[in-house]
Amino acid sequence: MFGSRLPNKPSRGAAAVVTGAGSGIGRAFALEIARRGGSVLCSDINLATAEETVALVKELGGQAWAFKCDVSKLNQVEAMAEEAERVLPGPVSLVINNAGVGVGGKPVGEAPIADWKWTLGINLWGVIHGCHVFTPKLKQLGRGGIINVASTASFSAAPLMGAYNVTKAGALALTETLAVELAGSGVSVTGLCPTLVKTNIKANGRIVGESSKLFDRLMDRFGMSPERVVNDALNALDRGDLYVMPQFDARMIWRAKRLVPRSYARGIGLINRFGVSRLH
Ligand SMILES: NC(=O)c1ccc[n+]([C@@H]2O[C@H](COP(=O)([O-])OP(=O)(O)OC[C@H]3O[C@@H](n4cnc5c(N)ncnc54)[C@H](O)[C@@H]3O)[C@@H](O)[C@H]2O)c1
Repeated sequence: MFGSRLPNKPSRGAAAVVTGAGSGIGRAFALEIARRGGSVLCSDINLATAEETVALVKELGGQAWAFKCDVSKLNQVEAMAEEAERVLPGPVSLVINNAGVGVGGKPVGEAPIADWKWTLGINLWGVIHGCHVFTPKLKQLGRGGIINVASTASFSAAPLMGAYNVTKAGALALTETLAVELAGSGVSVTGLCPTLVKTNIKANGRIVGESSKLFDRLMDRFGMSPERVVNDALNALDRGDLYVMPQFDARMIWRAKRLVPRSYARGIGLINRFGVSRLH
């Protein structure tokens, strides 16, 4: 969507860094980058799962290294960049700011401030740190790309998900800003905005109450495989697309927000008031 053509294909033969690579979408990114001939630094706050991803990449015949990094800490992201320069066969050409956690189930005013801070630290500051540390390096390289893993929550205003929505709106705004600042630099930037993807996001997050049951039901019915999402995202980056929304419902929400914003807000408000669960 809304792309500009760029001559390079950043997903091919990349020297890549993937955050949150120990599970779900991050793991699928690491494997697909390896299938496309790249080598990957697989970082995660959980070193053991990052090491499992490395083993899977090696089974494919690819090259990968594990690194423990909490993306909410700038010094750890800087250390990750140093490690990437040390181990990868060339300068970093592809950065996937993917690490994130899910939070939901309570309205604004009841959701604990501790949950806001935890989510913002990982989902928003993590992406800010990744862009801050790697953008100058990519600019200097003059090619490559960044994918920031945002969400349909960036623009859907889904109720009981205030903290998560704020982090993903911020991640998308940063992606859009970078796309403007990097225009003509040879570096592409893509914001990935999926709806539901079958990963460990609920087990690793803080989704509580009715939202937790609803999440399971919706995930069972509509969840997409991380492999499909990642393929779409890397292809979009190669085309120079700013946004990638792998699912139909994400694209519909995007359009409704722009074409009929008041009706959209009213409709979502009614669904929230009378209970989403009754719709299913
Ligand atoms: N699963 C979905 O339905 C969905 C939808 C839209 C967007 N997303 C986004 O996709 C991204 C990946 O999530 P996922 O669904 O694969 O979940 P997941 O829980 O399967 O994987 C997330 C990974 O991030 C790691 N992580 C957590 N905190 C970290 C930190 N502070 N530093 C580094 N790593 C950390 C976890 O250890 C885990 O390996 C997230 O940004 C999430 O918000 C997911």
